[in-house]
Amino acid sequence: MQNLVIAPSILAADFARLGEEVDRVLAAGADWVHFDVMDNHYVPNLSFGPVVCQALRRHGVSAPIDVHLMIRPVDRIIPDFAAAGASLISFHPEASDHVDRSLQLIRDQGCQTGLVFNPATPLDVLRYVIDKVDLILLMSVNPGFGGQAFLPGTLAKLREARALIDAQDRPIRLEVDGGVGPDNIAQIVAAGADTVVAGSAIFGQPDYPAVIEQMRSRAAGMPS
Ligand code: DX5
Ligand code: ZN
Repeated sequence: MQNLVIAPSILAADFARLGEEVDRVLAAGADWVHFDVMDNHYVPNLSFGPVVCQALRRHGVSAPIDVHLMIRPVDRIIPDFAAAGASLISFHPEASDHVDRSLQLIRDQGCQTGLVFNPATPLDVLRYVIDKVDLILLMSVNPGFGGQAFLPGTLAKLREARALIDAQDRPIRLEVDGGVGPDNIAQIVAAGADTVVAGSAIFGQPDYPAVIEQMRSRAAGMPS
């Protein structure tokens, strides 16, 4: 399995000081910046667009920006996020009329691709497009809001997705998003995740290095 990536979701950050918050969380040991894009159509909430991604790049953020599109449709804005500095763009298959074409569009824009699966969405589509997928993201909450409780059924789905990935001849990241924190990261990693999104578990804490270190040591099976 690949090295553990911790991707704080900026949805939970202090948006009045976003650049500073992202600098702090990366300096505290986070690996990626998780970008929860919401359109108030596909999910009942509205967050931010490419302009915020561009602002972070101009601010000097060089870490991977992991853009999670909780929007419908997806194709029109993929080039805008690529131009704004996205490293990886993931979307929900239900939100694209042509999943294979949307994946190809992301790759054509020079970004890595991801497919995002809601708690009730089966992994079946992967049978036909896994060769175009660089990351599989399992939602462990119903999308739209941070601060929700982790859905334990996600663990079995993680094991299912891990088996699918391990049958491939190339690395594919397995990410989980929603209700992740120090208290459950060990079982989440044990079930097969190598990339975790955490919003409120990190940005809700005063000491970012401490909570990120705690998550890493819990994930490694060490009590902390
Ligand atoms: C749901 C969002 C949240 C967010 C993480 O649509 O995608 O899952 O990233 O929020 P926390 O870590 O606070 O559950
Ligand atoms: Zn997300």
